[in-house]
Amino acid sequence: MRQWHGNGIYFGGDYNPEQWPEQTWSEDVELMRRAGVNLVSVGIFSWALLEPTPGRFEFGWLDRVLDLLHSGGIQVDLATATASPPPWLARAHPETLPRRADGTILWPGGRQAYCPSSPIFRERSLEVVRAVAGRYAEHPAVVMWHISNELGCHNAHCYCDVSAEAFRGWLRERYGDLDGLNDAWGTAFWSQHYGDWAEINPPRTAPAFANPTQQLDFLRFSSDELRAQLRAEREVLRTLVRQPITTNFMIGMGVKHMDYQSWADDVDLVSNDHYLTAADPQAHLGLALAADHTRGVAGGDPWLLMEHSTSAVQWQPRNVAKLPGQLRRNSLAHVARGADGVLFFQWRASRSGAEKFHSALVPHAGPDTKVFREVCQLGADLKALAEVRGSRVDADVAILFDWEAWWGVELDSHPSVDVRYADRLNALYGALWRAGVTADVVHPSADLSGYRLVLAPTLYLVRDADVAALHRYVEGGGTAAVTYFSGIVDENDHIRLGGYPGAFRELLGVRTEEFFPLREGEQVRLDDGSTADVWTEWLHPDGAEVLASYTDGPLPGVPALTRHRVGDGAAWYVGTRLDEAATDRLVARLVGEAGVRPAAPAPSGVEVVRRRDGDQSWLFVINHTEAEARLPVTGTELLTGARCSGELTLPAGAVAVVREDRTDHPA
Ligand code: GAL
Repeated sequence: MRQWHGNGIYFGGDYNPEQWPEQTWSEDVELMRRAGVNLVSVGIFSWALLEPTPGRFEFGWLDRVLDLLHSGGIQVDLATATASPPPWLARAHPETLPRRADGTILWPGGRQAYCPSSPIFRERSLEVVRAVAGRYAEHPAVVMWHISNELGCHNAHCYCDVSAEAFRGWLRERYGDLDGLNDAWGTAFWSQHYGDWAEINPPRTAPAFANPTQQLDFLRFSSDELRAQLRAEREVLRTLVRQPITTNFMIGMGVKHMDYQSWADDVDLVSNDHYLTAADPQAHLGLALAADHTRGVAGGDPWLLMEHSTSAVQWQPRNVAKLPGQLRRNSLAHVARGADGVLFFQWRASRSGAEKFHSALVPHAGPDTKVFREVCQLGADLKALAEVRGSRVDADVAILFDWEAWWGVELDSHPSVDVRYADRLNALYGALWRAGVTADVVHPSADLSGYRLVLAPTLYLVRDADVAALHRYVEGGGTAAVTYFSGIVDENDHIRLGGYPGAFRELLGVRTEEFFPLREGEQVRLDDGSTADVWTEWLHPDGAEVLASYTDGPLPGVPALTRHRVGDGAAWYVGTRLDEAATDRLVARLVGEAGVRPAAPAPSGVEVVRRRDGDQSWLFVINHTEAEARLPVTGTELLTGARCSGELTLPAGAVAVVREDRTDHPA
């Protein structure tokens, strides 16, 4: 790991000067300085201009851009420029183009039109990395390297013949021989037994459901192939440059196909892109979850927000603009949750191309705008928060998250299409957010010992070692809660026999003999007054106490919510999809039992998160409501410099960051 922090919080965004005449560049630097920008990502989509014909590099314009930025005191996160190959690559080597499962070829003209397993793409892209890194390794503006861009955003799965061959190689590594593969894939079923490696393909469009383990392995393979590109570029960089290396992840927003947890060790710092689902009035919850998850992937360390938007994007059906104040709330919510840098896509709004209606730091209308004024305000805010850099976020709750469990649970041929991986995650996270409780979102193999409460939503696929660790955690006095359709299969997607929820039966003290998924729209009631939908199951307590049972639906009288004392702790099971109010009540009970407290007692709709460094702490308070909020805080408010002696008053929509007096909040 290379040290990546600057003097304060990074602030800036993607800078694409190649889209503009050179006269604009000096104005850019002047405006960047005015806004307080200190870091820009350059060259992300520049391959076609840097290498206009195979093997001939033209660096003149990039030399001038980097020198100009440096003379203006703006630091650079320099891209390896491999994000999107130039059109000549596909013309010379059509076999580098990706194919969908049905054989459709994805052509150049957009971006990322390459097969991640293509040896030709790999070779050509590494040549670019060598050329760029060789030229700019010592450039004084460059403080960070940016590998590719959102690897897998558009080309995560390729089903071409080159990919098929690479998939076979990956399977040989995993299973050694065909017996191992046939066993893992359960090929005794439907006459699928393989007698030769050459018979195996990616799960291309087939007449009936494809083998689930084949699908799962293809998802693993595809994530690994993209990771291999990341690692190959990193290896080249490591030999040539000394600055820290990152690539932008897309944690949150439903991005499913890259197992970022497994990529985290390949970068010197975790960076993430996040865009709001603008039409969602609760979008700030999705933002908070993405940020907490990014921190979890980073092992709790500070991370960098590589991209978000100053206002609307252009790729949603209705691209809702941010209201005044929202840019600040969004940006500082990321900082509250561990970001030590706030960058945007992009510096100047494009005048042509598919992203011309995407917001930027400098809008089409120029600097005399609400957006640019808010950008300047944010620059000043981040400067005032420099001392927060390097501190960590307080969290007593862990939510377990595993991309493999996500992949597994959303395969086809399951009991109900209404069981979605993110559903209970969002529900439990939302309840914690409303209770003012911060959670780390971590992999099931993470060290759980520091948490008071562990939640396992829909952990369908789970490894034995992780089950054992959760058991030990509860025995040692922890509180855990597991939701339905968890513990069902092993890593090969084979059912854990003997009754559900398989791997968690013993921990939870329950045994389910049959699932009773509900019809679309069907609701059931519980004897504690809750309602639920989507899922019920014929559950027998086997050591657990029953906390609530169904009063109607297919299973009247059958337990829906249980609690099992294990050692010094307790393991709760939620066997149905509780409504929001019931989920809030459940989380309140869990939090109470585990002794978890909110970061500060705050009115509903006011987000409170604490960052800490040794015995110094900072309380971030974000008022998402339309009313003034008051809460007990003592310290110095950094954005205004005001003292808070016992109470903070925060106007509607405002943000405060209070350096707390040291005696206030012992860790
Ligand atoms: C990201 C991407 C950027 C830009 C942005 C628009 O996915 O990295 O290049 O396309 O989205 O929101």
